[in-house]
Amino acid sequence: MGADLSIQFAGVQFENPFTLAASPCSDNAEMVARAFDAGWGGAILKTTSVEEEVVELAYPMMAGLDYDDKRVIGLQNIDLISERHIDQVERDVRALKKEYPHKVVAASIMGSKKEHWQELVRRLEAAGVDLIECSFSCPHGMPERGMGSTIGQDAQLTERTARWVKEASSRVPIVIKVTPLVADITAIARAVKRSGADGVCAINTVKCLIGVDLDSLVPYPNVGGKSTYGGYSGPAVKPIALRCVAEIAKAIDIPVAATGGICTWRDAAEFLLLGARNLQICTAVMKNGFRIIEDLVDGLSVYLEEKGMSSVEELVGKSLPNIVEHSRLSRAYKPVSVINLETCVKCDVCYIACLDGGHQAISLDEKRLPHVDEEKCVGCGMCASVCPVWDCVRLDQRQEAGI
Ligand SMILES: Cc1cc2nc3c(=O)[nH]c(=O)nc-3n(C[C@H](O)[C@H](O)[C@H](O)COP(=O)(O)O)c2cc1C
Ligand code: SF4
Ligand code: SF4
Repeated sequence: MGADLSIQFAGVQFENPFTLAASPCSDNAEMVARAFDAGWGGAILKTTSVEEEVVELAYPMMAGLDYDDKRVIGLQNIDLISERHIDQVERDVRALKKEYPHKVVAASIMGSKKEHWQELVRRLEAAGVDLIECSFSCPHGMPERGMGSTIGQDAQLTERTARWVKEASSRVPIVIKVTPLVADITAIARAVKRSGADGVCAINTVKCLIGVDLDSLVPYPNVGGKSTYGGYSGPAVKPIALRCVAEIAKAIDIPVAATGGICTWRDAAEFLLLGARNLQICTAVMKNGFRIIEDLVDGLSVYLEEKGMSSVEELVGKSLPNIVEHSRLSRAYKPVSVINLETCVKCDVCYIACLDGGHQAISLDEKRLPHVDEEKCVGCGMCASVCPVWDCVRLDQRQEAGI
C-alpha cells in the first residue's frame, strides 16, 4: 500500500493536496471534470464576480520568458477575472458536486464593494461549494475599482474585506489569497487571521514586465502596439513563493495553501516541508496539461515511502525549524570547494566564476583541469552553483578547529 496523500486544509478533506489554481485551467466545469478524472484532488474555479461587473479581456494575454533552450521558465499574463459570472459558476459548482462529490470544488471571488462580496459568498454556499477563496491579490486586475492587490497590499483593507466575506459565510471555509508585493507578508497574514478567515493562499502572481521586442520596441505581450505590466508565474517565481509560505507558516498559526511555480513532485514536497497543506498549480498545467498529476502523485508517494513516512501530513512544516535569522547562522563552518576531476569536462566555468566573482582560488593546470587553493577558498559556493556537471563540484563543510 502506498503512502496516504490525503490531507485536511482549512477544515476540508482533500484526497491529495494537488489542486488547480484559479486560472484558465479551471474556467469551466468541463475542464475541471477532465482534471478530476485525471486525478486532481480539487480545483479553485477561476475568479468570478457578480453579473453587473464588466470584464473586458485584451489579447494576447500571455508572454513567456525563455532562457537558454528552455521555454517558459516564467510566464507573464494580463488576464483578468473570468468573463463567466456567478450565475454560470453556480451552475458549474452544482454540476461538479453532483458528479464528483468526493473532490473539492472551490470557487474564487472578487468584489468591488461589500454587497458584492457577500452576495457571491451566499450564492456559492447555496450552490454547494466546498471552500471559497478570495482574490485580494491580482497585481494587474482592476485596481481602478479597488480590486486585486489594492486590497492585499493594505493590512486594514485586508482585514475589513475578509471580515465582510467571513460574516456572509455560514458553513464554508474562507481562504484569502495574498500578494507577495508587500514589505511584510506576515502583517497581511496576521490581518487575515484577525478577520476570522480560515486560511491563507500564497502567492498570487508577481507584478512584472517580461521583456521588450527589440524590433517593434513594444513590450510583451503586444496588444495592438501597446503593452502593460502583468503577473509573473511559473518556475521563476517559486523561490518567492517558498519564502512567503515559509514566513507565514513560521509566524502565524493558520492553514496555508501554496501556489507559485510548483511544477514537479519535488517542488510539491518543498512547499509541504515549508508548511503548506494545499498545493495549487496553474502555469505547469497550462504548459503540460492535466496529466502532470500522475507524476506529481507518483513522485510524492515514492518520496514519502523512501523517507519512511506513511502520510503526507508528516511532511508539513518539517523544514521550518531549519530557517533562522541570518545572525543565528553558525560561523563555525568553513566550507571548501572540492572538484571531482574524473567528471570535470574542463569547461572553465568554475575558474571564471571564482576569478571574477569569487576569491581567485581556482587555477587551471596545463591540461586545463581546475584546482582549488584551500587557503584562498572561502567556500562561497559560486563554483558549485555554475558547474554544468551534476555533483562535480561540492562544498565540503569543514568545522574550523577550536570553534
Ligand atoms: C493566465 C492566468 C490567469 C490567472 N487568473 C487568476 C484568477 O482569476 N484568480 C486568481 O486568484 N489567480 C489567478 N491566477 C494566478 C494563479 O492562480 C496562480 O496563483 C499563479 O499563476 C501562480 O501559480 P503557478 O506558478 O503555478 O502558475 C492566474 C494565473 C495565470 C497565469
Ligand atoms: S567556493 Fe567560492 S572561493 Fe571557493 S573556489 Fe568556489 S568560487 Fe572560489
Ligand atoms: S565548471 Fe565543473 S566541469 Fe567546468 S571546469 Fe569547473 S569543475 Fe570542471
